[in-house]
Amino acid sequence: MAEKWTPETWRSRPIQQVPDYPDKTALEAVEAKLATYPPLVFAGEARKLKKQLAEVAEGRAFLLQGGDCAESFAEHRADNIRDFFRVFLQMAVVLTYAAASPVVKVGRIAGQFAKPRSAPMEKIGDVELPSYRGDIVNGIDFTEADRIPDPARQEMAYRQSAATLNLIRAFAQGGFANLDHVHQWMLGFVKDSPQAGRYQSIADRISEALDFMRACGVDPDSAPQLRSTDFFTSHEALLLGYEQAMTRIDSTSGDWYATSGHMVWIGDRTRQPDHAHVEFCRGIKNPIGLKCGPSMEPDDLLKLIDILNPANEAGRLTLIARFGADKVYDHLPALVRAVEREGRKVVWSCDPMHGNTIKAATGFKTRPFERVLGEVEAFFAVHRAEGSHPGGIHIEMTGKAVTECTGGARAISEDDLSARYHTHCDPRLNADQALELAFLVAENIKKEREDRSAEVAVVS
Ligand code: TRP
Ligand code: MN
Repeated sequence: MAEKWTPETWRSRPIQQVPDYPDKTALEAVEAKLATYPPLVFAGEARKLKKQLAEVAEGRAFLLQGGDCAESFAEHRADNIRDFFRVFLQMAVVLTYAAASPVVKVGRIAGQFAKPRSAPMEKIGDVELPSYRGDIVNGIDFTEADRIPDPARQEMAYRQSAATLNLIRAFAQGGFANLDHVHQWMLGFVKDSPQAGRYQSIADRISEALDFMRACGVDPDSAPQLRSTDFFTSHEALLLGYEQAMTRIDSTSGDWYATSGHMVWIGDRTRQPDHAHVEFCRGIKNPIGLKCGPSMEPDDLLKLIDILNPANEAGRLTLIARFGADKVYDHLPALVRAVEREGRKVVWSCDPMHGNTIKAATGFKTRPFERVLGEVEAFFAVHRAEGSHPGGIHIEMTGKAVTECTGGARAISEDDLSARYHTHCDPRLNADQALELAFLVAENIKKEREDRSAEVAVVS
C-alpha cells in the first residue's frame, strides 16, 4: 500500500536542486499568496491532454513538445510568443500529414522558468555566487543582487505565465491557427530553404490534400476543426514550493491537480524514487513526463513507473529519452524491452537536445544540428526494431532566427554563434532549424508507416 499523499508530503523527503532562500518568511508569504490565486489551467484540460496522450501511447497519435529551454522575464514579448507559435504550428502540420494521425501539441511555455544546475555555486575570478536557477528563482547577471534567490520572482513568473497562456489561448482558438494560413507560412519557408527540393514534395502533397478537401466543401470556413487547435502547456516541476501552491483539488473529481500547467515533467537530475520530486508528482493527476538519461537502468525505470503510474493508465506517463546521438543504441533498447515485457503503457518521446550539448572552440555551448537529427533517427530505428511506437519529440526551440545551434540547411558555423546567441540557458533550434527537423522527422514517420502497412499486408 502506498503511503498517504498530500501536496506537501514531498517536504519530508530528501531533495535535490533547491534554491537557498535567505528570507524564509518572505518565501512562505509568497507561497501562501500564490495558493489563493486563480489556477492557470483547469483539471478538465489536463484530462483532455491525458486522453490525447493515451492515443499516442496506443500508437494512434504523435506528440510534439517544444519551446524555450528557459523562459525569461526580459523576453516576455508578444512577438516572441507569436513567432514561436507560428513555427510550432507549421511543424505540427507537417507531422500531422506525415503521420496521417493527430499531433498532440504541447509547449514548453507559460511556466518553464526553473532550471536545474550542475553546480550550486558559480565562480568567476575570486567571486563566488549562487548559480542562476531560472528567472523564477534569481537573476542571470553575475551580481550578488541578482543571484540571491528572491521569492517575489515566483509571483512574477505566475503573472507572466498567465499573460502568455492568455495570448496562446487566443491564438489557438481565435483564427491564428487556421490551417490555410499555417500552410501558406510553410510554403514560404520551403521556397526560401536551401533544401527546398527535399521538402517541396511533402508541401505539394499537403497543398493537394487541402485543395481536394476544399473541392469537397470542407475548408476553414465550413469546418471549425480547421481553424482552431488544442494546445497545452508544460514545464519541469522543479520548484516544488511554487508547484505545491498551485496544486488544487478538482471539484468535479475530488482529485489533486497541478494547475501551473497541463503537463509537468521530472528532470533526469531529480528522479530519485524516494526523493521529493517523485513524491510530489505521484500524487497529482496531470500527465507526467520523466526524463530518461544514460544513467537510467531498466530496473530503475520499472520502479519509477510503479510509483508514478501504478494503475498503468495510458497517457499518464511520457518517457522522454535523452541519451546523446551516439548513446541511443546502448541504452534505449533495454529500456523499451523492459517496458514492453512488463506491459506498461507509456508514451516514448525523444529529446534530441540535452544529450548533444558541446562546447564550441569559441566558448559557446552549442548543439550540432546533425547530432540532434542523428538522435531522432536512432530513436526511430530502435522503435522500428523493437516493434514499439516512436511516440513523439521534445525539443528546445524558438521562433526567432537565433544562432545557438550549429548546422542546418543554412549551415550556421561555430564562428556564427556570437551573432544572435540569446538563450538564458541551453542552445535552442532557431525557426528554420526547427521546421527543418519537422520535415526530417516526417520522413522517418513515413518510413514507419510504410513498414507497418507492409506488415499488415503480410499478415492479411
Ligand atoms: N484542429 C486540427 C488539429 O489541431 C487541424 C488543425 C487546425 C491544425 N489548425 C492547425 C493542425 C494548425 C496543425 C496546425 O490537428
Ligand atoms: Mn535545457
